[in-house]
Amino acid sequence: QISCSVEKPVVIGLAADSGCGKSTFMRRLTSVFGGAAEPPKGGNPDSNTLISDTTTVICLDDYHSLDRTGRKEKGVTALDPRANNFDLMYEQVKAIKEGQTIEKPIYNHVTGLLDPPEVITPPKIFVIEGLHPMFDERVRDLLDFSIYLDISDEVKFAWKIQRDMAERGHSLESIQASIEARKPDFDAFIDPQKQYADAVIEVLPTQLIPDDNEGKVLRVKLIMKEGVKHFNPVYLFDEGSSISWVPCGRKLTCSYPGIKFAYGPDTYFGHEVSVLEMDGQFDRLDELIYVESHLSNLSTKFYGEVTQQMLKHADFPGSNNGTGLFQTIVGLKIRDLYEQIVAERAGAPVESAKV
Ligand code: ADP
Ligand code: G6P
Repeated sequence: QISCSVEKPVVIGLAADSGCGKSTFMRRLTSVFGGAAEPPKGGNPDSNTLISDTTTVICLDDYHSLDRTGRKEKGVTALDPRANNFDLMYEQVKAIKEGQTIEKPIYNHVTGLLDPPEVITPPKIFVIEGLHPMFDERVRDLLDFSIYLDISDEVKFAWKIQRDMAERGHSLESIQASIEARKPDFDAFIDPQKQYADAVIEVLPTQLIPDDNEGKVLRVKLIMKEGVKHFNPVYLFDEGSSISWVPCGRKLTCSYPGIKFAYGPDTYFGHEVSVLEMDGQFDRLDELIYVESHLSNLSTKFYGEVTQQMLKHADFPGSNNGTGLFQTIVGLKIRDLYEQIVAERAGAPVESAKV
């Protein structure tokens, strides 16, 4: 029996180190598409996959070729390409993109072992998230859009402390040591992927507080590549100009240290990019509409959609700053890209949403 409506997914890559906000980003993305993502029903409870009506997110840790013991024996980290099976990753992402069902391995984060595979059917949007979505050129070429979450060392440290110390009882020294131990492989294999990303969300310590080392207030940059098909970068006030904007005042409540936006063209690894930057944090999320009204090319379906999404998930980490704002915006851009690709396939080119 031949099915005539084979789903050919749009494939998105999301790269970041672990503990850098990938799952939070995925929750924002699936929400933009109108549904929460859940683990597969009736499957392995330790599956790393998330499925919503439209979107399936797989974690590339599932392509570890060496399990925890194997890595220990060989003295390689999970970041090392030698611990990962890129041939299988390529074959399976390609198969899904062609509309085929795959049997994907599962890396069990609890046991550190490879579990029996799970069946993945082609969704509308297929997201591969993890350490290496843009590492292998063959896999990279399958991506319709790619994102890199670039968390600076200072901020990564602050987030790890918050999670591993507060929630898992690790010591400050052991957290420091584990970050240090990962660093050489991170620099060699993970970080270079950002040059290939269509959008990078860079998270830095604030510049609004002199010598800040708390890592609570963040300066976040959204770096958007120019000339990417189906992707029109967002801009502030006037496209292509350079602007610095302090929105605090009558229409936006700001407490210390305030909020500062910046926008302008730049180059990033030799590519022309547009960069939107936000330093500081919002006091009142409902006032975000004021900022939203000054941004263009947001690919919203109605006025205020960014603010609505942010309010809806006010409890997610980063909702009061540029991380949540830019993740939401990238989610909207991905929805737009998806709709354009679908329309193009149907032979009816549509104008991208330009609210
Ligand atoms: P990943 O999926 O990459 O491991 P998560 O989305 O689960 O990352 O986030 C891991 C932890 O990092 C969160 O529990 C939170 O403590 C912290 N974190 C993530 N994103 C942010 C953010 N935007 N602002 C502050 N903390 C964050
Ligand atoms: C996963 C994560 C890595 C992490 C690893 C733990 O693969 O994506 O970021 O380092 O698990 O590895 P370990 O060798 O400590 O079990």
